[in-house]
This record gives sequence, C-alpha cells and structure tokens, in this order.
Amino acid sequence: MTNQDGFETLAIHAGQEPDPVTGAVVPPIYQVSTYKQDGVGGLRGGYEYSRSANPTRTALEQCLAALEGAPRALAFASGMAAEDCLLRTVCSPGDHVLVPDDAYGGTYRLFARVLSGWGLTHDVAAISHVATVREQLAARKITVVWAETPTNPLLGIADIRALAEAAHEAGALLVVDNTFASPYLQQPLALGADVVVHSTTKYLGGHSDVVGGALVVADPELAERLAFTQNATGGVAGPFDSWLTLRGVKTLAARMDRHCRNAMRVAQMLAEHPAVSEVLYPGLPSHPGHKTAQEQMRAFGGMVSFRLLAGEEAAVRACGRTRLFTLGESLGGVESLIEHPARMTHASVTGSPLEVPGDLIRLSVGIEDCDDLLDDLRQALSND
Ligand SMILES: Cc1ncc(COP(=O)(O)O)c(C=O)c1O
Repeated sequence: MTNQDGFETLAIHAGQEPDPVTGAVVPPIYQVSTYKQDGVGGLRGGYEYSRSANPTRTALEQCLAALEGAPRALAFASGMAAEDCLLRTVCSPGDHVLVPDDAYGGTYRLFARVLSGWGLTHDVAAISHVATVREQLAARKITVVWAETPTNPLLGIADIRALAEAAHEAGALLVVDNTFASPYLQQPLALGADVVVHSTTKYLGGHSDVVGGALVVADPELAERLAFTQNATGGVAGPFDSWLTLRGVKTLAARMDRHCRNAMRVAQMLAEHPAVSEVLYPGLPSHPGHKTAQEQMRAFGGMVSFRLLAGEEAAVRACGRTRLFTLGESLGGVESLIEHPARMTHASVTGSPLEVPGDLIRLSVGIEDCDDLLDDLRQALSND
C-alpha cells in the first residue's frame, strides 16, 4: 500500500498482503499463544508470545493505523481496555484531566470511579465551547483533554482543531474518542489530536458480533510507551476478535455511506413529528455544531437522538414498541437499534454532571431499507 491509496483501498488491503506461505487472500486467524524460536532469542518476524504480538492482531493494527493516517495503532480487548491503557500511560497519580460534559457513561465511570482511586482527578468541561476549555486550562495544570465528537448520547460536536491548539498551548494532550464518526468520516490526528480512541465494537466491527478497542497515535515514542503498558497489563485483542474486526473494516466506507443517508432521513422525519420536542443530529442545519461538523466530517454519522414532548415514561414505552429497531445497547452495527440512555447505556452517570434527560431516545440507524425504518418509528410514536 502507498500513502496515496484511497480510504476504501486501505480498508481492504492495508496490513493484509496475501499470506506469504499459502497465498490466502485474507490474513489467517493465528490462533496461537507461542512461536518456535530459531535458537534462543531468534524470533521469526518479532513474534514470541501472543500477548506481546500476534500476526492477526498486527494485520488489524496496521489497517487501523492506515485508516487514521498514523504510523501506529494498538488493538485491545475492548474500548475500555484501550482507554485504561492510555490513561495509565500518559497520566500519573496526582495529575488532573478534563473530561467532556457529554460522553459514553463507561468513560466517565473510568475517570470517576476507577482512576480516581489511583489519584487521577478531573474536572468536567463543556468541550463544544473552546473558550471555556481555555479558561480551565489556564486555571491549573492539565495533563489530558478528553473529547468525544460527536458525543454519546447528545451528539454534541467539538472543534478538534481549536481544542488541539488550546490543549497544546497549555502543554496538555488532546485525546479524541472517534467511535461515533469512525475514521471514514473524521480523522482527528490530521486536525491536531494526539491520540484517537476507538471502541471497534461499533462501526469498525460493524456487525454486532465482536467487542474490541484501539488506540491510534501519531508520535512513535508515545506508541512505544503505550505498547509497553499494553504488554505489561495484557488487555489485548485476541486473534479471532481481531479477524472479525478486520473483516468488518473492509466494508466500513460502504456501510457508513448508507448509515449516514438513512440517519439523515430519520432525523428529518423526526424533526417534523408532532410527538418530538427536539432532534439531536449534527446533519440538521439547526444543530449548534452543524458548521463545525461540516468542516471536520465527511458526513454526519448514523446516530440520532431525540426527545419526546410527553416525557420519560413515553420515551420508555416508545423504546418497547419498535418492530425493526431492536431494543438494545451498543451501536454501529448493520441492524438498527433503539435505547433509552438514562436507564440503559448512561445509567451509571445518574446524579453526575453527565446525567442525561429522561425523555431522550437514542437510535443507531442501520442500513436496512429506510422506508421500513421510517414506518417503524412512526408507528412506535403514534400510540401516545
Ligand atoms: C463512544 C464510546 N467510547 C468507548 C466505549 C467503550 O467501548 P467498549 O464497549 O468496546 O469497551 C463506548 C461503548 O459504548 C462508546 O460508545
């Protein structure tokens, strides 16, 4: 592969040369823990033990690095394992970080209930308002600014370039969780971010059949330090999970185009619906982050959140009435999902500054026939 190859070409070929021994056109699942050495220390291709490196994982890591335009990526057993590895590498006990005012509940829980016990303190920041973030950066020493964009579940947009400038002027790292956008829609490293985090469980895997995570980094020295922690703590992606994720990645661009098209139609229909008080989708011109999203994203993604005029109980009832949208956590698969964040994915942030409204419904819009999806939502909203 060359750097000039397009995104779709890299997704299908980067890190995935036909197997040199058999010619197999996709990387085999190297379901192996250890490797024969040619004499003590005589490693073949650097492989000695599959926690440290495994050829199927290497293929996935090389592909993810190419898709984010980075020299190096590391694949983990889950998005949370990736986040934990990152924070325990770039922070030390006593450090202070900024966490977003809207984010995946599990990310906030990691800061608030796990790493706090290790001595890492945090403030919550309105990351879509860079001026406020600058004030927080000026007020005390900050090691990391953490951003999600679009955010989960309120679909807020942060200006990555402006945040990177602000963080770097203050000597902080900018981490961007790129899970909702995927590298097809947005490449944070090119906009100045230092580290990209993925839950590959979502759009990268794309088929709701594997849990995984990744870190993608521009700085090779930081990548080395992360690889050391990854090997030392062991939260690696296994060979079969790496293979499944890589298979999903091959069709990322085609799937994302369809997710985005369907989500835009769903958002437009909901914006006109009498039961809906607000639609949160960065593709709508009324969204406060629309212009920034237009500048830094190829399209606006497959996630749509909306609020119901009739309140929380009506939202819970609507989540139980859909035929095609499956009631479930997670997102980014080919099938459409519906969920109630306050009682499901974000139950762990109840009572925190990240608490989400009870009348909110989150959709992961899949790639089914969009007319069927629109009919399903209309009937689910019609009975109240
Ligand atoms: C935006 C975001 N980041 C990180 C994670 C954590 O990833 P995982 O569930 O793969 O550990 C999630 C999970 O839902 C997520 O939505």
